[in-house]
Amino acid sequence: MERMKTQAGRQLSLLKVKKKWLLPASCSFFFVLSVLMTGCFLWQYYLPKLKTGSLGPEVTSAPVRMCPQHPEPVPLAHPLPVLKEALEKVDRILRQALFAPGLAAMSAVVIHNDTVLWTGNFGKKNGSDPASGPPNEYTMYRISSVSKIFPVLMLYRLWEEGTVASLDDPLERYASAFTINNPLGMTSAPQQKSLVDGLEEVGPAPRPSPVTLRRMASQLSGLPRRLRSTSLLWRGSTQEALSLLKDDVLVADPGTRCHYSTLAFSLLAHVLAAHTVQGDYQRWILEKVLEPLGMADTGFDLTPSVRARLAVGFYGSGRPAPLYNLGWYRPSGQMYSTAADLAKLAMVLLGGGPQRLLRPD
Ligand SMILES: *[C@@H]1O[C@H](CO)[C@@H](O)[C@H](O)[C@H]1NC(C)=O
Ligand SMILES: *[C@@H]1O[C@H](CO)[C@@H](O)[C@H](O)[C@H]1NC(C)=O
Repeated sequence: MERMKTQAGRQLSLLKVKKKWLLPASCSFFFVLSVLMTGCFLWQYYLPKLKTGSLGPEVTSAPVRMCPQHPEPVPLAHPLPVLKEALEKVDRILRQALFAPGLAAMSAVVIHNDTVLWTGNFGKKNGSDPASGPPNEYTMYRISSVSKIFPVLMLYRLWEEGTVASLDDPLERYASAFTINNPLGMTSAPQQKSLVDGLEEVGPAPRPSPVTLRRMASQLSGLPRRLRSTSLLWRGSTQEALSLLKDDVLVADPGTRCHYSTLAFSLLAHVLAAHTVQGDYQRWILEKVLEPLGMADTGFDLTPSVRARLAVGFYGSGRPAPLYNLGWYRPSGQMYSTAADLAKLAMVLLGGGPQRLLRPD
């Protein structure tokens, strides 16, 4: 007992000694650290300056081409042990992902050129029904923001057809009533703007940076996420949307900053559709994209037969998610589709197979 006490006492005093050292030791440690960090900062600060100086102006004047860039498919020679290994890895990753809360069903397709290489289906089509079977590649899913691909396809197609003169046209060219306040005013750095857009320089004169079609299609428009005082279920018209925007403000100077906007894609879709023969966004998508590509299991309307084939959606909390009708915002998130249909679209966009949606570059 006594020995234990003294041992404890010794340990206590050792601790005290240690504690005495702790303050100066940690002080000197942080001092050395701060000297090191300052040194690194100065080094970093001077390094690029020297570099750009020595490499000359040709580095900064080269135009940056950002989009579209996708890998060219190369022929696959059988057998493919590397591919088999890679697909097993995909399988493992997706199986693992299914543990995330609210994720009850998952379907995946891997394609190469015009061929389906692999399909994976995980979980249950109805996660709250223990007797439910797994989904398959023909199970319907709400594709929410993947729907935003379609207004972009429309923009490119109308540009190819000449309905849209330039991707860099300001929106007001197609919707004369469009105005919005830009508190950030004039563009001060035209060169930076042109780099962001992946274009040649447009000229040195400062001018208000417009909300262009290209910026709307790439989250660079600076438009707010939604129309002021509307929910995603808003049932207004495009005219009403434009009059709401008159009193609204941009959240970023167009072309300078990525800002997620559901409004931008819906506005783009509805405004462009008004310049087509169909006159309606959903009809245009059906006639020009879904029907030609044979995407019969993709659409906007949650009819009883679609609902019957739909995988049940859940919130992160595990509560089943209701099926909303997004009203005016439908182009940004209303669509349903299947893994098989989206694989068809991906094949066409990657240039596999005989079908074309857009002309190659
Ligand atoms: C892609 O598919 C097309 C059409 O079947 C075929 O002609 C072409 O050789 C394929 N390319 C590759 C890289 O497999
Ligand atoms: C999913 O299963 C639950 C429990 O059996 C059931 O109440 C619900 O109606 C099912 N949902 C659908 C869309 O079939």
